Amino acid sequence: MGIEQPLVTTRIGRITLAVAPDVNLAWVYGVWERHVRARRTHIAIVESPYGDGRRRVVVKVYRRRKAHGILRRLLEDRATHEARGYEAFARRGLPTAPLLFWGRERRFGLFCAGLVATAHIEAEPIHAAYARQPDERLIDGAVDLLSAIHRAELCHGDPRLRNFLASRPVPTVIDLGSWSFMSPRSQVRDLTRLLGSAAALPGAPPDMRAMLERYARTGPSLPCAAGRVLALANRYHRERGAP
Ligand SMILES: Nc1ncnc2c1ncn2[C@@H]1O[C@H](COP(=O)(O)OP(=O)(O)OP(=O)(O)O)[C@@H](O)[C@H]1O
Ligand SMILES: [Mg+2]
Repeated sequence: MGIEQPLVTTRIGRITLAVAPDVNLAWVYGVWERHVRARRTHIAIVESPYGDGRRRVVVKVYRRRKAHGILRRLLEDRATHEARGYEAFARRGLPTAPLLFWGRERRFGLFCAGLVATAHIEAEPIHAAYARQPDERLIDGAVDLLSAIHRAELCHGDPRLRNFLASRPVPTVIDLGSWSFMSPRSQVRDLTRLLGSAAALPGAPPDMRAMLERYARTGPSLPCAAGRVLALANRYHRERGAP
């Protein structure tokens, strides 16, 4: 199972499913039926029928939001966008959870529901790993990975520490629902969120200035003064307060 080969797209009624070639379509459809139709959960871990070491699959379900009007539902939906993000990141060699399948249901062109399934990575999110054992290398890994993402001219959109898994030797990126191509604005937004989420870690949080200096050594140049990024990160931390 993996993204090495392009996903194969199939239509089943109103549902479009894109599935890695070595993943069983009937099983995927069953996952859709169980997790999109029947349950109200957002994230589920399911056991796959494959015995190749990637038995657990993380299924993320998107449902229609009441606040979204017709125009919003006609546009690219969040599941499709996140799946395209996993593909874009993997194509550039960035360490993401492998995308195994994804799907969406549209009725008269309007978004109803979606699903993104990735291989389960045996690692906890960096904010949780750091809270258990404050190891600076976890933070360095997240900073270096954000720098690599930006060098690839992509932005994560929500690179809080909870969206990097503490895998070794490098962290793994997840939660690509807000990814984009890089712009000065999205670069600053990414840095604001990474630094602001680190400042919210319990105990002795890492030094935001040192994180920004580390980023500056390998990442693309900043579109504004470092002091402005730090001020925005401080504000984000004050207003949001969660890692
Ligand atoms: N492929 C994966 N392997 C291991 N754990 C995962 C994987 N995908 C998601 N998770 C776990 O599920 C959590 C939620 O996933 P994700 O961040 O994609 O959804 P979310 O709705 O944006 O959640 P949040 O708002 O908490 O960021 C992650 O923080 C992580 O703990
Ligand atoms: Mg998340």
